[in-house]
Amino acid sequence: MVCDYFEEYSEYKVCLFTVDSKYRKGEEYYGKKIVDFEDIEKNYPPSKYDMFIAIGSSNLNKIREDVCKRAIQKGYNLATFIHPKANISSKVKIGKNCILMEFCRVLQRTEIGDGVIIWPSAFISHNNIIKDYCYIVGSTNGFCEVGENCFLASGVYIADKVKIAKDNFLAMGTVIRKNTEENSVYKGNPAQKNQNITAIEFARFLTLHSK
Ligand SMILES: CC(C)(COP(=O)(O)OP(=O)(O)OC[C@H]1O[C@@H](n2cnc3c(N)ncnc32)[C@H](O)[C@@H]1OP(=O)(O)O)[C@@H](O)C(=O)NCCC(=O)NCCS
Repeated sequence: MVCDYFEEYSEYKVCLFTVDSKYRKGEEYYGKKIVDFEDIEKNYPPSKYDMFIAIGSSNLNKIREDVCKRAIQKGYNLATFIHPKANISSKVKIGKNCILMEFCRVLQRTEIGDGVIIWPSAFISHNNIIKDYCYIVGSTNGFCEVGENCFLASGVYIADKVKIAKDNFLAMGTVIRKNTEENSVYKGNPAQKNQNITAIEFARFLTLHSK
């Protein structure tokens, strides 16, 4: 998906894919060469190439975070993609390695950190702070803050001025009206915290069972 977005709607040319050698399953992917991540800089140096880490929400976005940090350590600039049909105020600040898909909306004076993925259905209102490595399918109202590594599933709504603590998993259709606690799973309307499992454990369980 990300490869198609960059090729269709940006000035970037996608040259190749890279993966840690233990996960490599062949020589090519979608007709492009795959090279090992471990020594990619030898033949494809950061002075000539940018990177995008196209890893989804597995393990509460922590795998994407880890690989982004390894790419930055190697010296790569991480590209951000904003779809031409995304509706983003010019007063929005956006970090590195973000993807803002078609039809998402982000209003004035919102700040989006690094490694944030925003889906077409998302509406992020004004004066929000969306911290690094969030994955957002749902919506927020004005003056919200969403902590690092949160997952907001489809149909999530967050009331004005609410702070979502870091490492939250907000399940489909959750309506949040009060600040939340770190590393927690919430479901329902009004939102209820799941007392039996942390968000990091829940996300690890989902990642294992989606294979
Ligand atoms: C949370 C989620 C993963 C389901 O979790 P799960 O634990 O596998 O859910 P299960 O189907 O095993 O259900 C467990 C219980 O939680 C309830 N439940 C599951 N999802 C729920 C939700 N979104 N809201 C409220 N209750 C929910 C079920 O009714 C069930 O309750 P019961 O035991 O009383 O019958 C799913 O609801 C979700 O949010 N998926 C994310 C979808 C999405 O937005 N993806 C991004 C698209 S790009």
